[in-house]
Amino acid sequence: MEGKKVLITDTILRDAHQSHAATRMRFDDMEPVLPLLDEIGYYSLEAWGGATFDSCLRFLNEDPWDRLRNLKKYLKKTPIQMLLRGQNLLGYRHYADDVVESFIDKSIENGVGVIRVFDALNDPRNLETSIKAIKKYGAGGKCVCEATISYTTSPVHTTEYFVNLAKQLENMGADNICIKDMANLLLPFTAYDVVSKLKKALKPQTKVHLHTHNTSGTGDMINLMAIQAGVDIVDCALSPLGNGTSNPATEPLVATLKDTPYDTGIDIQKLLPAVKHFNKVAERLEKEGVLNPKVRKVDINTLLYQVPGGMLSNLMNQLKQAGKEEKLADCLAEVPKVRKDCGYPPLVTPSSQIVGTQAVWNVLLGRYKTITAQYKDLILGKYGAVPGKVDKEVIKMCTKDGEDIITCRPADLLHDEMKELTEKVKSDGFYKKPEDVLSYALFPEVATNYFKWRAANETGVDKDMAANPDKVYPV
Ligand code: CO
Repeated sequence: MEGKKVLITDTILRDAHQSHAATRMRFDDMEPVLPLLDEIGYYSLEAWGGATFDSCLRFLNEDPWDRLRNLKKYLKKTPIQMLLRGQNLLGYRHYADDVVESFIDKSIENGVGVIRVFDALNDPRNLETSIKAIKKYGAGGKCVCEATISYTTSPVHTTEYFVNLAKQLENMGADNICIKDMANLLLPFTAYDVVSKLKKALKPQTKVHLHTHNTSGTGDMINLMAIQAGVDIVDCALSPLGNGTSNPATEPLVATLKDTPYDTGIDIQKLLPAVKHFNKVAERLEKEGVLNPKVRKVDINTLLYQVPGGMLSNLMNQLKQAGKEEKLADCLAEVPKVRKDCGYPPLVTPSSQIVGTQAVWNVLLGRYKTITAQYKDLILGKYGAVPGKVDKEVIKMCTKDGEDIITCRPADLLHDEMKELTEKVKSDGFYKKPEDVLSYALFPEVATNYFKWRAANETGVDKDMAANPDKVYPV
């Protein structure tokens, strides 16, 4: 059996609790085992970015930048990995290039060693500024630039399409290429095909990194097939918060590969104290009601309907609110049609919500009788280029008031924002460090609430606010 050592990224500090427990793990929950995790021999520990930034500020009264610096104090050998949504950073809109550049500069300065950057539509232009900034501030081995393919299925998303995209990202400067199967739609034999063709097409030094989930129970098989096809790194999560809607568990894969040419070199005994620790954390999260044990079960719906699990529950919620729960089958049949009409975007935030809501409106009000503002923006190119062709009739409906379709990179239409944002945070009296401006840029209201809590906590002036961190104060 031929093969090479497989590297493991553990997501226990980010995706695992984002998938299972609404991103509610606190730094205190991590701290006791950080020295131990640093000794395991992981390729990286995914610990920052994604929803952790928002959750720190919104729910946990933690400064996400402090969390990063504190993680770095312990993680001296293992690179800290973060997930970044390209021009959207960690927020929900496109930011100007100077904000993107500054955010990446500060992330690397404070300790991030691998940045996985993706765009929901796979439009490389939305990754241009991030990749350039990672190369600039991460030069000299300080930070790995991992550019990402958001995996999905559609007539345009062939293996050839993904290989071409990966080569484009490699040419833009990516050190690693990640296949991000956020919805667990990639099947094991397809994984074999995609990974072997990527490995053939990319430079020998470019690492291929696979990220999948175990929502529909195929995750371990996907990893194993990808490993046989030559994947360099796979994502796993320690079992207390692994499997189900999270990433496949770490320990079974380490055991599977032991004494084979793919041996990870990880000593499973060393994992046990961390497993014991996170079992306790998971128990507490379950008691607090943020971890529903249901998330651990195999749910085949993703594969049946080709929609991510989160999108399915959103559809059901929208129909419930409208009192039309009986229309679910119609909506599930409408989703692929709406997705085809708008050029087959991968279904991930925000396109999953945009396509899902339009499908619900089409079923309840008649096809395209009402078009949501976001669907129109998607058609008008405001999120970037969609992968396929947009339906001509839909274009007509979305441009009937004289709107133009944007063909340039969406961020080219944005003016620099940093100067104005810095002045605002300073004039509000919240400025303590340059990173505060970035927190404010991403989540203006949530960050302001956090700054108020921080001031109250430090000065003791507003004892009520400091003593009631969960209370929401109007801005
Ligand atoms: Co994920």
